[in-house]
Amino acid sequence: MNFAGTYTYLMDTPSGKRETKVVIRKAARGYEGELVSSHGGCELLENLHTKGDAIIFEAQAGPARQEVTIHNDGENLSGSVLVYQSDGNDKTAELEELTYAPTRRRALILYATMTKNTQRVAEAMKESFEYYNWECNCIRLKKSNDWASMQQDLYFDDYDVVALGSPIVAGYPLTIINDLFSLGAGGRLESNVQKMVDAGKGFQMNSDTMGGGPGGVSGPAPEGMPPMPEGGMPEGGPGGPGGPGGDPGAPGANGKPAWRRRQCSYPGGPVRDNYQPLGIVFTTYGGGFYGSGESMATLAALKLFLELNNVSVVGTYACCGKEFGPAGVEEGKKPNVMGPGGVPDPIYYETKEGTKIQGSYFFHNQMWGHPNDRDILKAKFLVADLVEDYFLTYDGQRGFVQSEYISMS
Ligand SMILES: Cc1cc2nc3c(=O)[nH]c(=O)nc-3n(C[C@H](O)[C@H](O)[C@H](O)COP(=O)(O)O)c2cc1C
Repeated sequence: MNFAGTYTYLMDTPSGKRETKVVIRKAARGYEGELVSSHGGCELLENLHTKGDAIIFEAQAGPARQEVTIHNDGENLSGSVLVYQSDGNDKTAELEELTYAPTRRRALILYATMTKNTQRVAEAMKESFEYYNWECNCIRLKKSNDWASMQQDLYFDDYDVVALGSPIVAGYPLTIINDLFSLGAGGRLESNVQKMVDAGKGFQMNSDTMGGGPGGVSGPAPEGMPPMPEGGMPEGGPGGPGGPGGDPGAPGANGKPAWRRRQCSYPGGPVRDNYQPLGIVFTTYGGGFYGSGESMATLAALKLFLELNNVSVVGTYACCGKEFGPAGVEEGKKPNVMGPGGVPDPIYYETKEGTKIQGSYFFHNQMWGHPNDRDILKAKFLVADLVEDYFLTYDGQRGFVQSEYISMS
């Protein structure tokens, strides 16, 4: 029996019966998973093991620690819970309205766009995931988004692959990407630190220095300093759930989305039990100066933003996107040049089949038509390769994170 999948049941809580969701994955050395309470809490399953047709685990659900046993022989489903009590009089109950849904692979594509080039790449990737019968949420990141209503679709914990895409503006990702993923985006953190240092206070990242307040060693924060979350910087640092970037189960304290359900530190932090979905970063760019090399800084930033949220990035995609600046000049038209004179007519090249191709005035060829069909196919194929190699395995387990897929043109 393969126990991987999602189990839901009703639990007694002080506010009545509430739905509890248990997600079980098959990992390299056995099953693992999380228990997600309806109030948004997310706890690791512990002592997870199987016995005959049963899967058994312990987890903290609200104030109570529980042991849950679920019998699933493929046809019949039943379960019970043992709730540990401090006085030793543990309680048992049947799991009510227990349901089971086998694992369905899921992808989340988050992208920003101005003129829809990056959206076309995002949609091509979505098509490819769906070809393999994955569920795929493809979401445009905009300032006007109502994050609270979207939050349930945004937790990276719920996905097998998370993709993050942005066009390039003046060398970097769009502001909305920085706002959502970078701590202190737009130079706020930088200027706050500088204000502290200039005020002769030095700088330490703790509730006194970041938030100031009564009794704080360093006194109130300088003007413009963002307040610290109540209780100071959370374990795991800012940006993670519970930090300025989010609170588990609800949009972050600053009104922005939370990317992780579970309180977890940055990778590299003291806790190493975080589930890490695979990641893809993608961009479209004008490349009018010297081409795909211009996309490197944006791709690196996107990769960092995903990695800081415990995503293992193994896919990188970049293609030219028609720009509305000089390099987006239409077919047959010559770019304006500064100063006297002009540029000569372009050379035309001929393919074996007799197709004529206009020589380019800028780095990429036929920049008026990108992303073109070839770009779109490359995006689809990158996803196809990644899905087939990492997920279409003989035993249903995701492959080890080692190989990368890179399509940059
Ligand atoms: C204001 C602005 C600045 C841009 N800056 C750059 C840049 O620095 N480097 C680059 O390669 N492309 C640059 N581009 C081109 C866009 O990145 C490119 O057209 C991209 O495909 C747009 O994606 P979108 O349609 O998803 O918005 C810029 C475009 C605009 C409108």
